[in-house]
Amino acid sequence: MPHPTIDQREAWQALAAHAREMRSTHLSELFAGALHRHAAFTRQAAGLTLDLSKQRWRDETLERLLDLAREAEVPEAIRGLLAGERVNRSEDRPALHTALRLPPEASLVVEGEDLVPSVHKTLERMATMVERFHAGQWRGATGRAIRDVVNLGVGGSDLGPLMVTHALADYRPQGVHTIEVHFASTMDGSQLADYLARLNPETTLFVLSSKSFTTIDTLSNARTAQDWLMGRLMGDNREEGVDAELVMRQHFIGVSASPEKMNEWGIAEDHQLAFWEWVGGRYSLWGAIGLPIALMVGMPHFRELLAGAHAMDRHFSEAPLVDNLPVLLALAGIWNVNFLDIRAHSILPYDGRLEFFAAYLEQLEMESNGKSVTHDGRGVGYSTCPVLWGQLGPNAQHAFYQLLHQGTQAVECDFIAPLLRYDEVEDSATRAHLKSQHRLALANCFAQSRVLMLGDEAIEDDGPRPAHKRYRGNQPSSTLLLDRLTPATLGSLIALYEHKVFVQARIWDINPFDQWGVELGKKIAGETQRILEHQADIADMDDSTRGLIEAVWAAERNA
Ligand code: F6P
Repeated sequence: MPHPTIDQREAWQALAAHAREMRSTHLSELFAGALHRHAAFTRQAAGLTLDLSKQRWRDETLERLLDLAREAEVPEAIRGLLAGERVNRSEDRPALHTALRLPPEASLVVEGEDLVPSVHKTLERMATMVERFHAGQWRGATGRAIRDVVNLGVGGSDLGPLMVTHALADYRPQGVHTIEVHFASTMDGSQLADYLARLNPETTLFVLSSKSFTTIDTLSNARTAQDWLMGRLMGDNREEGVDAELVMRQHFIGVSASPEKMNEWGIAEDHQLAFWEWVGGRYSLWGAIGLPIALMVGMPHFRELLAGAHAMDRHFSEAPLVDNLPVLLALAGIWNVNFLDIRAHSILPYDGRLEFFAAYLEQLEMESNGKSVTHDGRGVGYSTCPVLWGQLGPNAQHAFYQLLHQGTQAVECDFIAPLLRYDEVEDSATRAHLKSQHRLALANCFAQSRVLMLGDEAIEDDGPRPAHKRYRGNQPSSTLLLDRLTPATLGSLIALYEHKVFVQARIWDINPFDQWGVELGKKIAGETQRILEHQADIADMDDSTRGLIEAVWAAERNA
């Protein structure tokens, strides 16, 4: 007799009964007369403050959700994750992104090996590389110091480093040889073409970031970049003895879990950074994949990022469930998705430095939990990951807030903002203006979540309003405040969401660490490409694909 699925467990049934009452309870009722609701549903850890009082729940709801977490053995699962158990069951491996941020004095023995020394050996190799770049000592084939580094990667080999380098642009080290970091990910070559049109090949280096080193997006960009370098450096400087091997050696770094494929591609062995199979792509910015981050902000700030994530790991490991930020954020999502049927989730940072945070979370959350089969192969009888998207909050107010306020979709929102900003701006007049703008952003952040919560009640009563000017409210949200946006608080913020995803996966009984759905996508395009290039028979295709391919052929004939 197979074990009961989570929705057959007593805690789930109790929540379902409780939800029947709560579905008709408006957030304005929950706040009416509630003097200490904010205090009751706000927690702090690792430089973050999480206000969950605008969730559509009450004390009893949270108690029942904590019962569900215990029935799903969340505490035991947390211990197993951090200890290196093979939690990624379909690929039979651990998921040890947390090991990448352990301090040097720590020890983590997994299947007989202490992983910490090798983690720090990689960090030391990264540090040595970064020092060479920042000393202007990493020279291209013509002897000039590299100044532009282009990361070629996609998904977890792009989104994390892109998001962090953008968020921490204020943290560039002073007094070093400046390195400009760029990101090219898309297989159509759009971003790369732009860089090749304006960068100097003599002072440009490419980081080939790919865990598998088989991703066609990245290998296509890499091939184009290699030919650009060879053409520009060999063609123009043949007489100066620039040879292909020197170009390969001085203008490429490889980052992958597959050293043999890096060797095959021609990356010089001492310019390779390898990482482990137990680091998932979307969880990998904390190690070698984070090289672009370290090149941008320097190793000290990169280590602060790691320390911030480690602080959240410690909190996740040690805090009781009722005070555990990742657990509470996860349970709010479970309550919305599985009991209030709210299956859309928007990420709304009110700080331009977090411009790429929502895109990063789209992969972290939906590639991890966009699953419908439990660990033991049974189809789930309940919803799992919601549709998650986002945009800078202030800009989203001019994009899709109309839907949030007056549409027909129930949406959970995460508002994210730093409490303080701009103190380091030297010019006092400019500092005053910018701090005023920061307060304006905070005011909008708080006001928007208030109107989403209360609806018409949040608006001064200026008499009856026609229906198209009414606000329904009752949209649940969480507000996450960072003391300030620093490498450490960014690290703890990212780790918070990594662990939230893990807790939800544990409750849904799904594997957050594999991605079989996208592995197929990487392969089926190959057949279509061969047909497009007249190397395979179009007859095997469906009528739509045939029509689309024939349209391309017709356009090419008429070009
Ligand atoms: O989207 C599928 C995926 O495998 C992601 O999980 C991964 O981050 C991305 O493609 C890139 O993979 P790689 O780092 O192996 O190039």
